[in-house]
Amino acid sequence: MDNTTINKISEVLRNSKYAVASTGAGVSAESGISTFRDDGGIWDRIDVSSVATPAAFLKSLEENADELIPYFKEVLDSFVNAAPNPGHDALFELETKGILKTIITQNGDNLQAERGSKNIVELHGNFFRMKCLACSFSEQLDRKVFAANTIASLDQLTEYTLENILSLVPRCPECGSLMRSDVVMFTEEIKDADKAFEEAARCDVMLVLGTSGSVYPASYLPVEAKRHGSTIVVINPHEDSYSNISDLYLPMKTGEALPQILSCI
Ligand code: OAD
Ligand code: ZN
Repeated sequence: MDNTTINKISEVLRNSKYAVASTGAGVSAESGISTFRDDGGIWDRIDVSSVATPAAFLKSLEENADELIPYFKEVLDSFVNAAPNPGHDALFELETKGILKTIITQNGDNLQAERGSKNIVELHGNFFRMKCLACSFSEQLDRKVFAANTIASLDQLTEYTLENILSLVPRCPECGSLMRSDVVMFTEEIKDADKAFEEAARCDVMLVLGTSGSVYPASYLPVEAKRHGSTIVVINPHEDSYSNISDLYLPMKTGEALPQILSCI
């Protein structure tokens, strides 16, 4: 355990006026949800290009459902079983103390919101918010109920034909059109980019937590913060993904590091 760095991070946060966190999949890893680029992560199991756009997704479902659906069921199962971990808890506490003003996240798993955090910017959307493809209707579904129901519906299919799979896609209660999950796919615009970049420019400390920094523009937030004079703190057990700009780097899991940092504040 790196007590010196933990103490320094606590001190930096204690003295901060406007701290912001930028979080990635690593923050939910200890909740049992796979990251994307770690060994055995999601992109080891499915080809990114097959889910990069809605059209590519439909095509790969048509051609490769027997491989994709069992894996999606595993991912859905991890959503059924997940719960916020001590990292989410500590971020919530930091917000409650008035230290952390905003959590900008690339995660669509809803766990930080479920833990009670209020000021969250979900750059890549939310898996459990369904939006109508035709009108403006959208609704936030319960994570566990949605994931469990989807597994149960898939289990009832006798064959994974595209027609069978599409028959499970929910319909809009307002206009009857197909709905989809309101997550950002690769060709789509991220959500609330203006707010995220304003917060990055405004903060005096940015906690960069559990992200590989591989996906633009989210990856640029710490750079923007640094450019405006912010102290950059990176917590990641495997890599300092911002080694060129980080002021403090703590090689620990966020679920272990953040509660210790909190207890030193
Ligand atoms: P990645 O999978 O690219 O990176 C996860 C990071 O978390 C890695 O740097 C790991 O070292 C680190 N990590 C693993 N376990 C951790 C733990 N317990 N505590 C802290 N860190 C840990 O995930 P993201 O950077 O979030 O996009 O990926 C960004 C985007 O790529 C995702 O939002 C997704 C994907 O394509 C969309 O879905 C649009
Ligand atoms: Zn509609």
